[in-house]
This record gives sequence, C-alpha cells and structure tokens, in this order.
Amino acid sequence: WATFAEDVDAILELKRRRNAVVLAHNYQTPEIFHGVADIVGDSLLLAREATKVDADVIVLAGVHFMAETAKLLNPAKTVLIPDLKAGCSLADSITAEDVRLMRARYPDAPVVAYVNTSTAVKAESDICCTSGNALKVVESLDAERVIMLPDEYLAQNIAKQSSKKIIAWKGHCEVHELFTADDVRQLRENYPDVTVLAHPECPPEVVAEADFAGSTAAMQSFVETKRPPRVVLLTECSMSDNIAARNPDVDFVRPCNLCPHMKRITLKNIRHALETNQHEVTINPAIAARARRSVERMLAI
Ligand code: 13P
Ligand code: SF4
Repeated sequence: WATFAEDVDAILELKRRRNAVVLAHNYQTPEIFHGVADIVGDSLLLAREATKVDADVIVLAGVHFMAETAKLLNPAKTVLIPDLKAGCSLADSITAEDVRLMRARYPDAPVVAYVNTSTAVKAESDICCTSGNALKVVESLDAERVIMLPDEYLAQNIAKQSSKKIIAWKGHCEVHELFTADDVRQLRENYPDVTVLAHPECPPEVVAEADFAGSTAAMQSFVETKRPPRVVLLTECSMSDNIAARNPDVDFVRPCNLCPHMKRITLKNIRHALETNQHEVTINPAIAARARRSVERMLAI
C-alpha cells in the first residue's frame, strides 16, 4: 500500500527513466493534475500539445478517445492509457456506420465530429471539433447545413450562435445532461451573487440560464480574468477543485457531477502503466490516416 506521496515520487522517477510525459485533462483529480501531470488542459489543448511532445512515451490521464487522438498525432510514440475502460457516453453513442447513414441522408452536409468519438467515427468525418473551437469549425465550412455529431446539446448550443443549419445526433454526455435549468435557478436563489459558468455539453435551457458557456479551458480563463467573487462551474467535479487551488480568492460553490470514466484514472494505475507499458493504444493504420486528416484539419483552423 503505497501512499499518495510514494506513488507521486515513483511516477516522477519513471517519467525521467522512460522519457515520458503525462498529459492530463482538467477533470483529473488534483493529485494527478497538480502532482504528476506535465501538461494539463481541455481537449483542444491536449490535442495541440500532443503534436509538440518531445518524449518517447505519452501517458494520457483522461479518457480513451483522448489517448487515441494523441496516438493519431504521434504514430511513432508509445501512448499509454492507464485504464482501458475509461470510455465516454458520447463516444459510445455513435458508430462509423451511423455516420455513413447520416451522410447518405444529407449528402450536401459536411460532417463535423466532436473529438469525443472513436477513431473509426473520426475517419468517416470531414473535420473534428472540440467545445473550445466548435463554432469556428462550423463557420469555416463552405456549406449551408452541417452535420454535427454526436452531442445533441453541443450542436443545439452552437446552432444558436451559428449562421448554418445544424443537423444533430442524439448523443449526450452522462455528466452534463444531469444539470437542469431549475438547478441554476435554485443556485441563484441560494447565492444571489454567484456567477454561473456552464459547459456547452449541458442542455440548452441550462446554458440559457448561465452567465457564460465554454470549454473547461474557457471556464478557467473566465475565472482567472474576470475574477468573480463567487462562481459555480456546471461541469465535472474535479474542475472546481483544480482551479480553486490556483484561485484562493474566488469562492467556488460546488454542486457538480462526477464522470465515472475520468475517475478510472488514478495515481496507482498511472504508475502501473509506466511500469508495465499497459495499456498501449494501437490504431488500425488504414483508419488512422483518415481520422488523422480530420483532426489535423481542425488543428489547422
Ligand atoms: P473540454 O475540456 O474540451 O471542454 O471537454 C470536456 C469533456 O467533457 C471532455 O471529456
Ligand atoms: Fe465523456 Fe462526459 Fe465523461 Fe467528458 S465528462 S468523458 S463527455 S462522459
């Protein structure tokens, strides 16, 4: 039974020995986020940083699609995901065959795939997006209507800001779909001075009640630039914990929902991944080339 501190020390030593880096999503627990991660951020930043990594091994402290994206951008490097079951309800909501059927139904509409998808779905798409660049990506396309999948709520939230007609899929994030407009009204009643920030995977009626909607990185930047005295982040629980540590003067109200997939990643299995090389992410090269094109098109915007 190693303590947190022993696991952190062991991981730091393994990173040196193996020339490895840990890329961690903002929803990772504080001991990972502050203790062993080399790069932390939202999905867009993790994808961008993955293109610049100068290490032999990347440990992705996040969910499987993030590790696949890192592998797509670094085919020659070893990419490890500490728990293969770290999935995502959005990625699980759609298959490559579903995308082909959507294309057949709306042949004039380009397909924008959220990065929260499998490599096979990215391969069937024209371009990827994240919550941090979705509007920009949609607006960059030379088409009147655009298929945006698989997150129905993200698509609806973007449709409100876009000049395009958006055709959505019915996928939902199991964490963000739980927030309701009533939750926001209740929060405002309990904390009249609270600033409400919502992730765009929340239902549109929740976003409509919020003061601001944006990716996890955009929420962090809002807090750090506007410095509201009291804030609530309608997103995964670790997000507030991680930013609160850096912003002691801001009061974080913390109703939140846990992502069980993100929480599968622990100090113990990060250490185990570096000790045993498990689990190495591999991607069928024929699919990889087409999926990489969609991710690279996004990164070029
Ligand atoms: P961002 O960090 O890109 O906003 O994504 C949130 C998310 O749910 C990732 O799983
Ligand atoms: Fe997927 Fe939602 Fe968990 Fe993010 S928070 S990994 S979108 S289930």
